[in-house]
Amino acid sequence: MVDKKEPLLEVKRITKKFGGLTAVDNMDMQIFPGEVVGLLGDNGAGKSTLIKVISGVYHADAGEIFFKGKPVRIGNPMEALKIGIETIYQDLALAENLNVYSNIFLGREMLKKFLGLIKVLDHEYMLNESKKVLDQLEIEVPSLRNKIRTLSGGQRQAVAISRSIYWDAKFLIMDEPTAALGVVEQKKVLDLVRKLSSQGVPIIIISHQLHDVFSVADRLVIMRRGKKIAERITAKTTPDEVVGLIVGTLPGDYDNINNN
Ligand SMILES: Nc1ncnc2c1ncn2[C@@H]1O[C@H](COP(=O)(O)OP(=O)(O)O)[C@@H](O)[C@H]1O
Ligand SMILES: [Mg+2]
Repeated sequence: MVDKKEPLLEVKRITKKFGGLTAVDNMDMQIFPGEVVGLLGDNGAGKSTLIKVISGVYHADAGEIFFKGKPVRIGNPMEALKIGIETIYQDLALAENLNVYSNIFLGREMLKKFLGLIKVLDHEYMLNESKKVLDQLEIEVPSLRNKIRTLSGGQRQAVAISRSIYWDAKFLIMDEPTAALGVVEQKKVLDLVRKLSSQGVPIIIISHQLHDVFSVADRLVIMRRGKKIAERITAKTTPDEVVGLIVGTLPGDYDNINNN
């Protein structure tokens, strides 16, 4: 962990309602450079809704977001990407029928002039650039010319992460990155998370697999019914305590405090 003083990202008093239901309720959270934060809570606690507010998918009904100390308006997903907030959802948003390097450049393809006139896709360039980013992250895939659908779940996850890193992610959010993976692949994705944070990219990771979160996260933020109910330094808590906080058999930190 680097500079602990100034958060890279801060959300203050974020509230998001769907009709009469308050999915995220007055939520505060800070993420510091190079930090991995585990965002935990039972199904329906509001985790995905909160990260969708941060990544511009939903508009908050109230509250503010600060990036590097400055208030930012994230009106849509493109605005989040421009700031450098990359989000990897469970479905990964990869094109099954395109190869690895085309997926890394998906929607941002590189063109070159052909015979000085017509613009064509610069496959050579995209292939070489993709190779560089995969090497940097020590990711192995059989061939960058292989279609995504021929890859394993872990390799796909790695391609999605590479894409975010190539496009200069300043901040990565991963919603259930290991849910659909085998044990060996889970370990590889977690190694990748550690590597990214060691390169200074802070990460919010949502996962139901507590041992995964305990193995990568520096800090844990626990939500219940839309609210942040506790925060823990990973090294100073236990899975038992965290489960108690998630399900509500242990009281949250703010339960008996008014207006916290
Ligand atoms: N698009 C939506 N429309 C209506 N209700 C929603 C929508 N998305 C989520 N919710 C509700 O908001 C609450 C929080 O959901 P969600 O953020 O997906 O929780 P989590 O990711 O922690 O499982 C749930 O009660 C869920 O049913
Ligand atoms: Mg969710």
